[in-house]
Amino acid sequence: MRCPRDNPRALTRRIVSGHIDMRNQIFLNIIILDLQSQIRLETFLSTTPSPLTPNAIFPSLLARTVFVTGGGSGIGAAMVSAFAAQGARVAFIDIAEEASRALAQRIAGDGHAAPWWRRCDVRDIGALQEAIADAAAELGDFAVLVNNVASDDRHTLESVTPSYYDERMAINERPALFAIQAVVPGMKRLGRGSVINLGSTGWRGKGAGYPCYAIAKSSVNGLTRGLAVDLGRDRIRINTVSPGWVMTERQVKLWLDEEGEKALQRNQCLPDKLMPEDIARMVLFLASDDAAMCTAQEFTVDAGWV
Ligand SMILES: NC(=O)c1ccc[n+]([C@@H]2O[C@H](COP(=O)([O-])OP(=O)(O)OC[C@H]3O[C@@H](n4cnc5c(N)ncnc54)[C@H](O)[C@@H]3O)[C@@H](O)[C@H]2O)c1
Repeated sequence: MRCPRDNPRALTRRIVSGHIDMRNQIFLNIIILDLQSQIRLETFLSTTPSPLTPNAIFPSLLARTVFVTGGGSGIGAAMVSAFAAQGARVAFIDIAEEASRALAQRIAGDGHAAPWWRRCDVRDIGALQEAIADAAAELGDFAVLVNNVASDDRHTLESVTPSYYDERMAINERPALFAIQAVVPGMKRLGRGSVINLGSTGWRGKGAGYPCYAIAKSSVNGLTRGLAVDLGRDRIRINTVSPGWVMTERQVKLWLDEEGEKALQRNQCLPDKLMPEDIARMVLFLASDDAAMCTAQEFTVDAGWV
């Protein structure tokens, strides 16, 4: 694997160009959006400032083994890219094959090691644990697990059936514990580990229209707090990262309308839109040895919304 760490200028250029690639990628996707979405996306891009400084470099992440669930698009893809740019050995699973393949190719095209990936539906716990085992057999025991997969599909109270409820939990809640169960033996062998569970500020902000998602996301703190003592004995850290409203392609396309723009300006302390990379930065820190004494905590990245 080619590593540019001995050349900080080259690495900085690469990281900066990663941002530009992401923005270009978003821009290219305009062609598949409807006219209304086009206008919203163009406005969004024109009002989002370019990053002024490159990402931090975490020496401890070089060659670190990282597994990300739902890493094929959205915030997960930003995290996969960010870890790869640090020289980590990254694996991810996702149900979206096309996006996952394109992400792996993009990362390799940027000169980083291509991530290991597999199409896997996390509703199938056996398949999830098998993917983790197979990836570990190739890359080595995982030192970092990011429980990122989720689906914030909207639903009403009246429409929820027991099977729909179970299905929402099967994506938004259940996979995290079973992914942890699969990586912990390897973390014990390594003598350390970092588990990062993606929560949300949505339920705390009384977000409407997705009660099952809110229930699942509010349970993430319970998962983190409930395992921190047991895992801590083996120097395995576990934390929650709770994003505010992050401008993934899905969010911009489906939910960012005029009302949403107003809500952002009204509720955030900071005027800029949260980007997937903003969440990835916090996740990199928690995965690194710089966060060696951080565990059992919730880290909120929401521009001050809640
Ligand atoms: N985007 C936001 O504003 C926001 C806000 C708060 C919290 N979060 C949290 O951040 C995390 C990432 O959110 P996001 O906005 O990037 O989500 P997203 O919906 O854009 O992406 C989730 C990824 O999971 C994959 N996925 C969905 N169902 C799957 C399944 N059954 N099996 C395997 N993969 C599946 C999708 O293909 C996608 O790549 C989630 O945990 C979410 O709850 C996001």
